[in-house]
Amino acid sequence: MIPKEIIEEIRYRCDIEDVIGSYVTLKRAGSNRNGLCPFHSEKTPSFTVFPGTKSFYCFGCGAGGDVITFIQKMENLDYVAALEFLATRAGITIPNDPTPGGTPTVSRRRIYEMNLEAAKFFRAALFDPVLGKEAMSYLAGHRRLTGATIKRFGLGFAPNDFGMLTSHLKKAGYTESELIAGFLSKKSQRGTLFDLFRNRIIFPVIDTAGNIVAFGGRVMDDSKPKYLNSSDTPGFKKSRVLFGLNYAKDHCAEELILCEGYMDTIAMHAAGFENAVATLGTAITADHARLISRYTKRVIINYDSDEAGQKAADKAMQLLDEVGLPVRVLKLEGAKDADEFIKKFGADAFRSLLRSSSTAFDFKMDKILAKYNTSAAEGKIRAARELTALIAATYSGVERELYLSAAANKLGISVESLANDVKRARAKQVREARQKESRDLQLTVRNFGDRVNPDAAKDPAAAAAEEIILGLCLLFPEHRKLCAAGEIALSSSDFFTEFGRRVYEAIMEAERSENGFSFSQLGEHFSPDEMGRLVRLQQDRQHLQNNSKEVLQDAAKSLHALGAARQARAAGDWQSTLIARRAMLKKKKDGNEKN
Ligand code: GTP
Ligand code: MN
Repeated sequence: MIPKEIIEEIRYRCDIEDVIGSYVTLKRAGSNRNGLCPFHSEKTPSFTVFPGTKSFYCFGCGAGGDVITFIQKMENLDYVAALEFLATRAGITIPNDPTPGGTPTVSRRRIYEMNLEAAKFFRAALFDPVLGKEAMSYLAGHRRLTGATIKRFGLGFAPNDFGMLTSHLKKAGYTESELIAGFLSKKSQRGTLFDLFRNRIIFPVIDTAGNIVAFGGRVMDDSKPKYLNSSDTPGFKKSRVLFGLNYAKDHCAEELILCEGYMDTIAMHAAGFENAVATLGTAITADHARLISRYTKRVIINYDSDEAGQKAADKAMQLLDEVGLPVRVLKLEGAKDADEFIKKFGADAFRSLLRSSSTAFDFKMDKILAKYNTSAAEGKIRAARELTALIAATYSGVERELYLSAAANKLGISVESLANDVKRARAKQVREARQKESRDLQLTVRNFGDRVNPDAAKDPAAAAAEEIILGLCLLFPEHRKLCAAGEIALSSSDFFTEFGRRVYEAIMEAERSENGFSFSQLGEHFSPDEMGRLVRLQQDRQHLQNNSKEVLQDAAKSLHALGAARQARAAGDWQSTLIARRAMLKKKKDGNEKN
């Protein structure tokens, strides 16, 4: 594992405010910093950076941790990869110390280097007059790509062979676990490695930093599956990468075209529309939407005209709206996708299509109007009802105003009557949203649906006592010492929730170790979500006046009493259950009076 001094050095050199500030616009709020949370969609900032404790926490979604956790979540890396990422940023070298015996960790940097080597191999195969003959004629002939475009996108060809790439990469020094982790090779039942991409056109997926993070491979005939894409690897998560963004990022400050396929993206770039990107064979995610919002001001959705494409467009509109991006939708006629359209009608026709793209609202309104016969009263009423709901759901009042007159105009009814309906529907929607919010809040208060600590709901009193203990131990070295020295009668088996027990064990183990406790090292044993919870426990504690030894002792006693009551209950001994409960309640009452 990475030595503790290096981790501390990284934490010290990578100032949390600096690092987070390069992803999130932070504003001063007292001694802390505030901003819009990068991990969930919000319009008012609930994301806070605490330079004092070198941590962050989002009061909206519960994400939290230290600078390492932040990078883990933001860049979708595991703990070690996040450390490497930050080390590179700070110019620190991590000594190469392969874990003896344990599972070797595959580093992100190695995967990227290996992918680059693989891309060179695929490219050489494509340009090889014998090996790549059919593939080159497919690309140049059937797909009408120029040599320049093929080179710009680094396209390649995976030969129809089970071992060429694997043996090439092994010779270059890559290990079996690296080949497997990078989704280039797979182990057969007999235990030998074989190439995953075979007889396919290869599309390298390049991130905005220029790393080759994944590959897509297309067959050249009608066999299935048409495309094979890398699964998520240590350096790659589909939901966070957009094909073509490495080039589009310099051309999309004003507007970005979002499409579905590799070939659509390439065709658009080749025709001069260099602001096009594609999701990788998956539907757009909230992560994608946030990524897009970092690069552009407006989005044109250009999805296939089939039903699946239109459904995906609806989802994209919703997600992009949530991050505050205005959206227009392209209506392709006479072609199933952009690639086909440009081939058939040319770049100029595509340009005027872009200009005439309709706003998301017009797009949805047209869809509603097309469903009904609005020349008859019945159809008019139904269409009005759906349009009312659509307009009422619009956040901005100015936009609602505009949509009202457009819709009233189309339906041939007065703006006033439609406005009245919208007002009523809006009030109802707002009311319902508030109710849902307070319901959700009540559920959280009662620990229901707590994914980090699912046991908490089974015994909220015990969970509360555990939170006090853990908060105190995380924050104060003197409390950790008392516990580790056995001066507070408490052991991990006293903990009721599995999460609480694990945290307590990890804290005690670190405290008793030679190097002592450091918050950052917990990241090795706990997921980013769990780290978020640990920060919350610290924050909750920090705001309280009394963090004395007595508070710790009382919480330990409650935990004992609750455990005894639980055991008695399990044994069916109702009398002792009641006695234990009463004792606990009395102590709690005394405690409250003391505070
Ligand atoms: P061409 O037929 O080459 O023009 O591709 P296309 O881009 O028109 O493909 P299509 O609209 O069928 O699919 C759009 C995108 O979905 C592709 O670029 C792939 O990323 C993904 N995709 C399509 N087929 C498959 C498949 O069989 N498996 C996977 N994993 N992804 C697919
Ligand atoms: Mn196509």
